Amino acid sequence: MARSPRKHTTSQPVDPVSLDETKFWLQILAEHALFIGAGLPADNRELREEAQKFNRELNALLARANKVQNQRQFMELVDESICVVKEFYHFKRHLLSMMLRCRLGGFNYPLLLDHVAREAEYALGLFESIRAGNPVFGDISQPAETVFWLRLMSDHAKFISHLLDPSEVNLIQTAREFSREFDDLLLQGRDFESMLGNRGKVPAFSRFLMDVRVSTVRLRDFKAAAEELIRQCQLVGIIPELLADHVRREAEHFIMVLNVMERNKKSNSMFNKVEEKITDNSVLSKNEVLVEQKQQPAAKVDYKPAWDKISDNLVSEEQNDDIVDDDCDDEWYSSQFEGSASANQAIECNVSADNQLETAEASEEKQPKYKWNSKWPRPLGTT
Ligand SMILES: [Fe+2]
Ligand SMILES: [Fe+2]
Repeated sequence: MARSPRKHTTSQPVDPVSLDETKFWLQILAEHALFIGAGLPADNRELREEAQKFNRELNALLARANKVQNQRQFMELVDESICVVKEFYHFKRHLLSMMLRCRLGGFNYPLLLDHVAREAEYALGLFESIRAGNPVFGDISQPAETVFWLRLMSDHAKFISHLLDPSEVNLIQTAREFSREFDDLLLQGRDFESMLGNRGKVPAFSRFLMDVRVSTVRLRDFKAAAEELIRQCQLVGIIPELLADHVRREAEHFIMVLNVMERNKKSNSMFNKVEEKITDNSVLSKNEVLVEQKQQPAAKVDYKPAWDKISDNLVSEEQNDDIVDDDCDDEWYSSQFEGSASANQAIECNVSADNQLETAEASEEKQPKYKWNSKWPRPLGTT
C-alpha cells in the first residue's frame, strides 16, 4: 500500500508573508511580557517571574523563526507558538481580572492589559490560520480588521497621554486629540462593520479607509517624534523608549495592512497582491513587496513632515472554550478568567484602489500648516 505524502516536507519553501507576520507578532508579544513584568508589584516575585518566563519563551521562538529553513520547521514553530501565546493570553486576562478585583497592585493600566490581551488574541488567530494552511489574512473582514486596529491606535494615544509627565501640557493635548480622532474613526468603523456585514464593499468604506490611513500616518509620525525625543532625553515622562518604538511599529503595521487593502482589486484575499508578487518571484520577501508598495504614491498626504530624520463582519464569537487547548498547560489561567477569541470573515470590495490613489494624488497639493493637527501651533521639539 502506497504511503500517503507528508503534509510538510523539508524541501517545501516557507511562505515569506506568513513567516514575517509570525516574526512580527512574536517580537510584539515578547515585548508585552517585558512591559507587563516591569509594571507588576516588586514584591510579587511569582508573577514577575512568570512574565519573565513568557519573555524568554517568546524570544526563543523569535530566534528560531529567524533561522527557519523550510516549511516543516516553520509549522513546528507555529504549533509551539500557539501553545505559548494561548498561555500568555490567559496570563494577561488573569492579571486584568485580579486588577479589576483590586487583588493586584503595580503600574499596569487595566486597559493596557486588555489591549495586549486583544493583540495576543489576534496573533493567536493568525497563527491558527497559518497552521490550517490558509493564506495570511485570506478570509478576513476588512471592516472588522480596520476596527481592530483603530481601537489599538486609540488606546495608544491614551497610553501616551497618561504616561507623559503632567507638565508636558502640549504633548498631552496632542495625544488627547489623537485619542478623540481615533475614537471617532472607531465609531465610524463599527458603523460600517454593522452596515456592511458580508454584503460587499461600498465606495464610502473605501473613502473611509483613506481617512483612516491619513490619520494613522500622522499618528505614526507623532509616535516616531516622541520616540526620538525620549531617545534624546528631551521628553519628561515615564514612557520607555522601547514602548514608544513598539507602538510606532504597530502603527506601521496597520499602515501596511491598509496599503494591502487599498490595493486589493479583485479577490477576497486581502494579501492577494502580495501573494501574486511572491508567486511571480519566489525570492521576493513580504518586506520587499511592501517596500515596493511604499514607493507607490501615498493615498493622501495632508501633513508636512517637520523633521527629516524622524519617520513618518467580524463575526465576533465568544469562544473561550475553543481558546483552551488541551495540549497547553494553561488550565490555571483559563480557570480564573473567561476570555474570548475572534473569528474573521471576508467581504469583497468593488472599488478600484487606483481610483482611490488618483483621488489621493489630486488632494496632495493641499498641505496644512501644522504637522499633527490643525490646532497645534508648532512641530515637536522646535521653538
Ligand atoms: Fe503591543
Ligand atoms: Fe498596541
